[in-house]
Amino acid sequence: MRRPTILVTGSNGQLGFELARLLAPSGNVIAADRAKLDLVDADAIVAAVRGAKPDIILNAGAYTAVDLAEKEASLAAAVNARAPGILAEEAKRIGAVLIHYSTDYVFDGARTTPYPEEAPTAPLNVYGETKLDGERAIAAVGGYALVFRTSWVYGLRGRNFLLTIRKLAAERDELRIVSDQIGVPNWCRSLAEATASVVGLGNSALAERSGLYHLSAKGEASWFDFARAIVGNVAKPRIVPIATVDYPLPARRPAYGVLYTARFEAVFGFALPDWRDALARCLASSADADATSALSG
Ligand SMILES: NC(=O)c1ccc[n+]([C@@H]2O[C@H](COP(=O)([O-])OP(=O)(O)OC[C@H]3O[C@@H](n4cnc5c(N)ncnc54)[C@H](OP(=O)(O)O)[C@@H]3O)[C@@H](O)[C@H]2O)c1
Repeated sequence: MRRPTILVTGSNGQLGFELARLLAPSGNVIAADRAKLDLVDADAIVAAVRGAKPDIILNAGAYTAVDLAEKEASLAAAVNARAPGILAEEAKRIGAVLIHYSTDYVFDGARTTPYPEEAPTAPLNVYGETKLDGERAIAAVGGYALVFRTSWVYGLRGRNFLLTIRKLAAERDELRIVSDQIGVPNWCRSLAEATASVVGLGNSALAERSGLYHLSAKGEASWFDFARAIVGNVAKPRIVPIATVDYPLPARRPAYGVLYTARFEAVFGFALPDWRDALARCLASSADADATSALSG
């Protein structure tokens, strides 16, 4: 079988990096980080897709600075809303499949049970609005596209909650962490592995399965639960639960963002593991990497 050409945008991000690495054995991966392909530049997006002629586009690039987005709304919109629309149009032109990622922040968090795909959207912040506009731009094009909404992405690279907590835990005796926002932490590698399995089905199976899916680990957690799981059972730092109102940030966050994943599981035949199992794997891989660098250093 011909190896597919796979264009990965945002390939230096948490998810993009894992996607480019994991898919390399199964395709001709063109990893485009921001320096190679600036998603603000519409002409560059068109040129990149027309030049690469990919079978599959994995759009892992996104403006993810949730608080800064309140001040940089037009930049966030260019990356999160306009660029996905252009990628969808270019994919449609050549019959390619677009896989795009979105967020639980399209919801207002008023529910107390997991959100299905068709639940009404009502983003509370600019980031969520721009991501929702991106979903809509892709749907409006009507090509072959799979949109995976996920939540609370972390990994061992870049900027994320896990790395922040680890750094603060080394510096402080006490961490005050919000306990009234409920969601699901997702290891970027689990999301990339799921994407790789889906890509492995081949383009015609993917095209048939075009649509919106919730892709998330099982279980649920508050940020406080997540911090406790990262730090482990230690006396210090003490992790103290606080309320969202005691930790004001520029962007409002949904109080509840758990995604109902039954559609993905029914269509693709597998589920992501519980978030605690994924976190354990992630932390173990970090310990392995530390041990290897200690041996070689
Ligand atoms: N992070 C989360 O908690 C979270 C939660 C739910 C959904 N998601 C979604 O999941 C997907 C993957 O997110 P992630 O966690 O991997 O985010 P990430 O680590 O912030 O990666 C995003 C990547 O996009 C790149 N990017 C930003 N602006 C760009 C531009 N103008 N042109 C090209 N690339 C640009 C960034 O480049 P630089 O490296 O140069 O900054 C970064 O490498 C996104 O669609 C995101 O919206 C994320």
